[in-house]
Amino acid sequence: MSEHSVDRRDFLGTMGIGSLGAAVTGHLAAAAAAAAAEKPEPKWQPVSDRKIRCGIVGYGVCRFGAAFSFQDHPNVEIVAVSDLFPDRCAGLAKACRCEKTYESLEVLLQDPKIEAVFLATDAASHARHSITALQHGKHVMTAVPATLGSIEDAEQLFEAVKQSGLKYMMAETSSYRADCYAMRQVYAAGGFGRLVYAEGEYHHYLVGVLDSYKDWRRGMPPAWYPTHATAYYVGVTGKRLTAVSCQGFRGQQEAFLPGANRYNNPFSDEIALFQTSEGGSFRMCRTRSIHSLGAETGRVFGERGWMNGTTYQGAEKNLPNIDRPPLPPRVAEGGHGGSHGRLTHEFITAILENREPLVNIHEALAMTVPGIIAHQSALKDGETLKIPQFDTQT
Ligand SMILES: NC(=O)c1ccc[n+]([C@@H]2O[C@H](COP(=O)([O-])OP(=O)(O)OC[C@H]3O[C@@H](n4cnc5c(N)ncnc54)[C@H](O)[C@@H]3O)[C@@H](O)[C@H]2O)c1
Repeated sequence: MSEHSVDRRDFLGTMGIGSLGAAVTGHLAAAAAAAAAEKPEPKWQPVSDRKIRCGIVGYGVCRFGAAFSFQDHPNVEIVAVSDLFPDRCAGLAKACRCEKTYESLEVLLQDPKIEAVFLATDAASHARHSITALQHGKHVMTAVPATLGSIEDAEQLFEAVKQSGLKYMMAETSSYRADCYAMRQVYAAGGFGRLVYAEGEYHHYLVGVLDSYKDWRRGMPPAWYPTHATAYYVGVTGKRLTAVSCQGFRGQQEAFLPGANRYNNPFSDEIALFQTSEGGSFRMCRTRSIHSLGAETGRVFGERGWMNGTTYQGAEKNLPNIDRPPLPPRVAEGGHGGSHGRLTHEFITAILENREPLVNIHEALAMTVPGIIAHQSALKDGETLKIPQFDTQT
């Protein structure tokens, strides 16, 4: 345990109170543990009593429409829900405790009462659905990725957000995992300096193909779904991935055999090395074939310190609070490392405070587009390719 270790919950959780004495010695450690144990849990403070009138769309295989606690947020009224399949639509309505349903997103968007939508629709439709919703004057939170494999869609989405002046947020779950959140606070406080190297991973071992609307998952290029991994650079630093060389692995699963998918994609796994705008490197693993491995995680290594999990090692003595802020009562932390409720809370609070949400269009495209270019590089045997940027920040 380093003297600069900052994660109280991790520390107590992994070591156990009873084994503290074996791990650290002397009064200082005991005093620190006592102070930590006495520290009162911070309470959520409302910023407004206004309720944002929301529409929720999509209740597919992951049942994501009801998984983000919109229905339990004190600043949300769910006006209506939708899914193309009537049974899913009814299930979503029940889970959201909402009576009004529409047969499609497109019809739901005509409802003038609705101010904001959560799009838990198929990934292939995210960009188009987001653009349409923005054009109907609705704020948008969308499941990841912002766009599936299309730079043209990314450009159109970027323009649509700019034109609308509305809030757009991509619900990248890694952004609110405890480790990524902690890394972001420490980075902002200068605890890492510039990152020499970072790594992000989304491993998802699968035998066969997970079901999806119109089968968008079958044979999808893995790097087109990069955001759980790229969040461990972009979502920590706010900096950019500027160029990439990527290698593809030709797995033996049926969906990746020649002619077996609509994407003409031969790769079940893609490993990319990126250049960063800080002059460092970032390595992304997007795998499906590594036996029994499932993980969404990352690590960062800087000139002044490094972090794996929520434990800081480094030169900075004056570390910030790395505990994630409290949620309103009844809003569940939810899945993917307790990120779901936090993403909803961030989106709703950004509307209430009229500010940019954490994963706005700039950050969303900075996490999504590098994967599209990585796949292009893999198809060219790892040729280094430049990554288009959707803002001036590099
Ligand atoms: N960790 C994460 O962030 C994470 C994890 C899992 C899934 N996801 C994302 O969540 C989303 C949903 O995943 P899924 O597996 O449930 O998808 P899915 O393909 O199984 O279901 C999509 C649903 O959207 C509905 N839909 C599509 N177009 C519609 C329209 N015009 N109007 C109304 N409904 C429409 C379909 O009927 C379908 O039920 C995906 O985009 C996926 O990428 C993210």
